[in-house]
Amino acid sequence: MLKLPGLTDPHVHVREPGATHKEDWDTVTQAALAGGVTTILAMPNTKPPIFDEATLNLALDAAKAKARCDYGQYLGAGPDNSDVAASLAPQAAGLKMYLDSTFGELRLDDMTLWMPHFQKFPKSAPMVMHSESRTLAAAILFSAIYDHPVHIAHVSLKEEILLIKAAKEKGIKVTCEVCPHHLFMLSGAPNEERGKRKEGRMEVRPRLATQEDVDSLWANLDVIDCFATDHAPHTLAEKDGDNPPPGFPGLETMLPLLLTAIDLGRLTLDDLITKLHTNPKRIFNLPDQPETWVEVDENAVFEIRAADQFTRCGWTPFEGWKVKGRVCKVVLRGATVFHDGKILANPGFGRNIRK
Ligand code: DOR
Ligand code: ZN
Repeated sequence: MLKLPGLTDPHVHVREPGATHKEDWDTVTQAALAGGVTTILAMPNTKPPIFDEATLNLALDAAKAKARCDYGQYLGAGPDNSDVAASLAPQAAGLKMYLDSTFGELRLDDMTLWMPHFQKFPKSAPMVMHSESRTLAAAILFSAIYDHPVHIAHVSLKEEILLIKAAKEKGIKVTCEVCPHHLFMLSGAPNEERGKRKEGRMEVRPRLATQEDVDSLWANLDVIDCFATDHAPHTLAEKDGDNPPPGFPGLETMLPLLLTAIDLGRLTLDDLITKLHTNPKRIFNLPDQPETWVEVDENAVFEIRAADQFTRCGWTPFEGWKVKGRVCKVVLRGATVFHDGKILANPGFGRNIRK
């Protein structure tokens, strides 16, 4: 039996308010605990988006009533909310800036809209960028110009990880995260899978990348500060429909996939603890969770099945994958919250990390 500290996922789409048929604060925090994750940071691209005091309270009220693990809620950077966002910074997980196209309405195309956020958002509060490829280069330049730390979400490309490496070497305050699906899945199905694979289910932003990209992520593990799921639940009817929305659920599959990589010698246990506990705690200024740990049977071999999951969305892109390493028990602040496949924490047990 392996004992891990409570894990943090800094990138989760909860879907409440607005799309609770996909997921809500209750089901997403059950999925987190089943995956060994004791803190989630929730993204603001909900309906309505979280961008001012009223919408922040909408999300935090739902979380307070329903969450079974600890949580924080990001604010979204909009075209005209830089003053309000800066004043709400102490209550938020951080500021999320959508600089490339994604699911939802929050997107800042014009760089003049980025400037007031970089000027006003407190330097000690996390700023997370959805910025791909050349937009990532622009985000790093903004970080250098405004001397504001930035955290780059879901790095997926070779050019991105190499640029972040170079920026770090220059002393620019940039950190980053990589998602399991970008480490374990490729764009373009292998020949034997073509036709079997439903392409709508493979839609995700950033898109799945090439073997060369994936190899470069593995070759630059030391540049990766955090692992994050980008847990983005959509129902199967939506994924298999005419206009499939991008996104994968990931909370319940991240730890088994990474433990399997450790078993194969691709990753060390130290890497896992650093990138899922120590670094996120530092980067996102998270409080201690005393008497908190995750017990894992590192020899348990099983197949990933959507039917075994707590997420409401009802599917996983890793269906049928054989993995080694099962979460047996999770203790959060002295209470056993997950044991032998059962959630034992009640709704409302979770705490706001900014309270
Ligand atoms: O695939 C994605 N889905 N990428 C994002 O950036 C957003 C997310 C979502 O909210 O569905
Ligand atoms: Zn996301």
